Amino acid sequence: MFPVNRPRRLRQNDPIRRMVRENVLTANDLIYPLFAVPGSSIAQEVKSMPGVYQLSIDKIVEEAKEVRDLGIPAIILFGIPADKDTDATGAWHDCGIVQKAATAVKEAVPDLVIVADTCLCEYTDHGHCGYLETGDLTGRVLNDPTLELLKKTAVSQAKAGADIIAPSGMMDGFVQAIREGLDEAGFTDTPILSYAAKYSSAYYGPFRDAADSAPQFGDRRTYQMDPANGMEALKEVALDIAEGADMLMVKPALAYMDIIWRVKEMTQLPVAAYNVSGEYSMVKAAALNGWVDEQRVVLETLTGFKRAGADLILTYHAKDAVRWMQS
Ligand code: PBG
Ligand code: ZN
Repeated sequence: MFPVNRPRRLRQNDPIRRMVRENVLTANDLIYPLFAVPGSSIAQEVKSMPGVYQLSIDKIVEEAKEVRDLGIPAIILFGIPADKDTDATGAWHDCGIVQKAATAVKEAVPDLVIVADTCLCEYTDHGHCGYLETGDLTGRVLNDPTLELLKKTAVSQAKAGADIIAPSGMMDGFVQAIREGLDEAGFTDTPILSYAAKYSSAYYGPFRDAADSAPQFGDRRTYQMDPANGMEALKEVALDIAEGADMLMVKPALAYMDIIWRVKEMTQLPVAAYNVSGEYSMVKAAALNGWVDEQRVVLETLTGFKRAGADLILTYHAKDAVRWMQS
């Protein structure tokens, strides 16, 4: 073996390192999340997510142009509605905030792919991802009635201009229900990016500020996955594939790199990793304190997701990352 084998030969200078590099992050891998609020000229920074804003639709359109100009192919839209109720009306109404944002972006920036997050938690008064029995304070979401609402939501999002439907509520059978709904409405070519393996995670904390979607009681552990489980992710993925998912997501990403890898190994579908709010906020906080080099930490992390098997990465760092890649 030694000294015949000297791996350092292939690390000795930049051109050689570039020649043998196994994974390269590009703008094409990224999806940038945006939060739409009612009103105009609004850009309200999210306290726990420096650099992330709740934006009115005029600002969303400006942002969408910037994203397109950076070469990022897609955004994912979340909505903060003016009103919340038990039926999550704001989620599926044709004049809902995400529907209006999608239409405006599609018109102004037709070449940008619009992914719509399809869930109810931003729109229910109790903040859960589905339909509850009236008066229920345990937060036990009723699965099948929720499917009907998700179906309606997906169809209205597609009608409004969403190119990809991304259901995130971890309801059983949601991919099949949404596929049926889309097909019946004529959207046979609209792909579904399923949040297939979504864990019940503390890393969503800052997002719930951004999207105003924290459950008002209880937690999401009866529908999102137990962080201790790996095999179960593969079961969820197999079900979603059978139900017709076009792409699969693992979420969160950093503490679940093994899951990204295992999912990638078992499927031929594209795999997306969601670099979630808490992962973003931790890096931002450390960087603002001068404790880590933000640029290097972010690019290393995003490249790590690719190495782990992610084809796509949803990340709040997307715009910065592209600028840093270019420099
Ligand atoms: C809604 C949804 C959540 C996220 C994406 N869609 C929050 C949750 O499940 O509580 C989290 C995104 C993030 O933390 O960046 N179902
Ligand atoms: Zn939800």
